[in-house]
Amino acid sequence: MANTVSIIIFGITGDLTHRKLIPALFNNYQKKRLEENFQIIGFSGRDWSDDKLRVSLREGIDQHADYEINEERWQTFAQKIHYFRGSFDDTDAYFRLTQALEGLENGSANRLYYLATPPGFITAITENLGKTGLNRENGGWRRVVIEKPFGTNLESAQTLNREIHKVLREDQIYRIDHYLGKETVQNILVIRFANTIFEPVWNRNYIDHVQITVAEKVGLENRAKYYDSVGVVRDMFQNHLLQLLSLVAMEPPSSYQANDLRDEKAKVLKSIRKIPTEQICNETIRGQYRGYQEEEGVARGTKTATYAAIRFYVDNWRWQGVPFYLRSGKKMTKKLSEITIQFKNPPHLMFPLPPNYEFTSNKLILLLQPDEGIQVKFETKVPDTVAETRSVNLEYHYKDVFGEKAIPEAYERLLMDAITGDASLFNRSDHLELAWELLDPILNAWDDPDRHQPLTIYEPGSWGPKEADDFLSADSRKWHPEDSPSL
Ligand code: BG6
Repeated sequence: MANTVSIIIFGITGDLTHRKLIPALFNNYQKKRLEENFQIIGFSGRDWSDDKLRVSLREGIDQHADYEINEERWQTFAQKIHYFRGSFDDTDAYFRLTQALEGLENGSANRLYYLATPPGFITAITENLGKTGLNRENGGWRRVVIEKPFGTNLESAQTLNREIHKVLREDQIYRIDHYLGKETVQNILVIRFANTIFEPVWNRNYIDHVQITVAEKVGLENRAKYYDSVGVVRDMFQNHLLQLLSLVAMEPPSSYQANDLRDEKAKVLKSIRKIPTEQICNETIRGQYRGYQEEEGVARGTKTATYAAIRFYVDNWRWQGVPFYLRSGKKMTKKLSEITIQFKNPPHLMFPLPPNYEFTSNKLILLLQPDEGIQVKFETKVPDTVAETRSVNLEYHYKDVFGEKAIPEAYERLLMDAITGDASLFNRSDHLELAWELLDPILNAWDDPDRHQPLTIYEPGSWGPKEADDFLSADSRKWHPEDSPSL
């Protein structure tokens, strides 16, 4: 088997390549994880040269990477970057690409095709890889990395899977969800399965409910056209939030191998109760921030949701009756991704507490970002009182233990995994389809004018619509963090 790797990036002149892919590849090279025998071939339609591409990618690193740059390493790295001009739907370009690759590779090589393009090009590119034999594994592996969004509903995702499977085996396809590359997200399994103190209580007997919050401070960031056509459910829930739910709810896999892990995640997705259409208005909140419709590039009168909250139930022995509240939105008060495991009240309190005393039960909070860490909230006795209690925190912050810059960019890990052939942190075709099966009915009901699901408006800089607070208080619960109610 070859040991040279060609990384062919379709859409090399785009934003993703500049912000994430090249900074991650270069840091892997600086860390000597990416060895010398590789080259990067950038495929795009623009009239660029090798030099212009190298300069532009370097600017991307300067703007977006937060690590030290070793100039000597950059010089050798830059020499490995080559530009290839072509149109994604022109089969002849792929024949020319084959020749260009053979010229650079000097014998057999492995090839990683990275589709950093708008989703509309996925079929054309994979089809052309097939037509020109670029998918053939003669002497080296061929893998394809596909960015989200993967389809816009169940039907389009199934069609896309079928089209891609005509050219590639499932084990050659790496569907990326960058949340899975985050250290703190990988740590969910370590917390659960490398400790003995959590797993015995990780079930319906002790857990009252689970909250998953992915709040963003940013708005559209020049992506109005894309965002207005998808909205928060397709952009965040279909992938990131449902992946987080799977990791919290899954059973221990039999090994850390890709398919064992992915089988367990698929089982969770299969166990999530599909919300019947007539219940959707009770089980979901859809919101839009005030001023969204006036943003440049957004259709006037659009009902696209920039915020959603959804209550799911996982119908299995472990989780029966435990609600999972998921919420995410743009232009919220701050960037915060966290998972709160809310434990039940003790079955009996024998302390002489004042009447109407609001007892606080235990919480385990997984702080995914930005201040990565873990908090356990527990009750302690206030000194010099008979039995007054107070909630206090046990806290662990990554930065205190591993230093400020310990957490790498998610793409560093994901790119290396694709190169080394570890698909554990990538989505399998069944995950995507199962996720769409859950979300399609919600999106359809929201779009159906006869169902009158209200579009609630929230203030930019708030925690989302007030209705989302009512949604939880109707269940006698509150969102965490509690200190910042919605405006
Ligand atoms: C992307 C979404 O997948 O995730 C963006 O398309 C969103 O809209 C981003 O801003 C959030 O990622 P992170 O890593 O900043 O939480």
